[in-house]
Parts: sequence; structure tokens; C-alpha cells
Amino acid sequence: MIIGASGHGKVVADIAGKLGAYTEISFLDDDLEKRVSGYRLLGSVQEYGKWIDTHEFIVAIGNCKIRSEIQRKIERDAAVATLVHPNAVLGEMVTLGAGTVVMANAVINSASVLGKGVIVNTGSTVDHDCRIGDYVHVAPGCHISGAVSVGDRSWIGVGSCIVNNVSICEECVVGAGAAVIADIERKGTYVGVPAEKVIHGRRET
Ligand SMILES: CC(C)(COP(=O)(O)OP(=O)(O)OC[C@H]1O[C@@H](n2cnc3c(N)ncnc32)[C@H](O)[C@@H]1OP(=O)(O)O)[C@@H](O)C(=O)NCCC(=O)NCCS
Repeated sequence: MIIGASGHGKVVADIAGKLGAYTEISFLDDDLEKRVSGYRLLGSVQEYGKWIDTHEFIVAIGNCKIRSEIQRKIERDAAVATLVHPNAVLGEMVTLGAGTVVMANAVINSASVLGKGVIVNTGSTVDHDCRIGDYVHVAPGCHISGAVSVGDRSWIGVGSCIVNNVSICEECVVGAGAAVIADIERKGTYVGVPAEKVIHGRRET
């Protein structure tokens, strides 16, 4: 049962189908008008209890805060799936928390530990010995070098790069195409090469 019938949910459904492990793949979404072609939308999110004895669940919502709120609620009652696309590569001793999704052509190298509800999106790499917190979203085409730590609910924007051995605190946004070359210790949005904090819509000088 996939929670969130949007574009991201569609990709998650595709992964679940390719794994061949599920007899039924359906959706819940609070917008009952939404449609994912080829799949049924069975009800709103708050109705999830109807399926807890028969289904595994996964929250397919890109927004880190919303994904964390929903997963934290449903995981008290229901089994939460972890999905890895058949064309993703996982190194030795990699661990993935419940609700984590690893998409096509992603690579996670040895001994990295990913928390709950993480998204490693299409074609991203997470190198060796990283610590990726709960409900982090690594957007498509990011490269996270070795021994990087990313705090809970941070969003690493499309095509960004993080050099090795840096630490990013929780609830940060790293903008599209940014290069993070030093630790980020304050929550906020960071853009550019090298990445700088954005304050009130302006880059910090
Ligand atoms: C960073 C981001 C979240 C925008 O944040 P925002 O708070 O709305 O910021 P604004 O658009 O008001 O821009 C603020 C400033 O940062 C700059 N900026 C915004 N995004 C930037 C980026 N990715 N790279 C460089 N500069 C950027 C703006 O030009 C502006 O600069 P200025 O103050 O010199 O005029 C967004 O631009 C972004 O990069 N999102 C990532 C999207 C993504 O990864 N999607 C994948 C979905 S799976």
C-alpha cells in the first residue's frame, strides 16, 4: 500500500512491481481525485487501518517532514516496506531503515547506514561509511562522498555534491547543483558552489 499518489508514488509503484514480491499494489491519498494509471486509489490516508493485517506500507511523499509524520504514525500499527530497485547497487554492510526507497541506478557503497524513510533517488550515489539520517531525501543525480553525515529530514537537492568527511545538520535544504565543501551546522537552505546559506531569500554574504 503506497501512501501518496503523485509522481514519486508512481516510481515507487514501479519498483515494487519490478521486485515481483507483491500480489497487489494500491494507493492511499487524501486527494481522492488523484489517479496513478494502472493502479487503484483505495481511500484516504487516515483509512490505513483497514489494510494493516494484509498489506505492507510505504510512504511515497517527497517532502521530508510530511513523510516522517505519516510514517511515524503508521509504523505503530503496520509493517513498513523497504524497497530497492533491482538496478541499484548496494555495497557490503549497508543498512537501510524501514520505509527507505533506493531508486534505479543508485549506488550505496560499503558500510553506509541509512535511517528510516530515506529516499535515495534516481542515479544518486552515497559512498562508503556515510550516515544518512531518518527521512532524508537525496534527490536525483546527487553525489555524496565517503564518510558524510546527513541529519534527519534534510533534503539534498538534485545534482548536488557533498565532499567527503563533512557533516550536514538536520532539516537542511541543499539547493540544486550545490557543492557542499564544509560542515553545515545551522539549519537552513544552502545554494551555490561552494554552498552558502540563503537568508530571507538572499544569499548570506
Ligand atoms: C534552494 C531552493 C529550495 C529554493 O529555495 P528558496 O528558499 O525558494 O530560494 P529562492 O528561490 O527565493 O532563491 C533565493 C536565492 O538563492 C538563489 N538560488 C535558489 N536556488 C539556487 C540554486 N539551486 N543554486 C544557486 N542559487 C540558487 C536564488 O537565485 C536567490 O539568489 P539571490 O538572493 O542572489 O537573488 C531551490 O531553488 C532548489 O534548488 N530546490 C531543489 C529542487 C530539487 O532538488 N528538486 C528535486 C525533486 S526530486
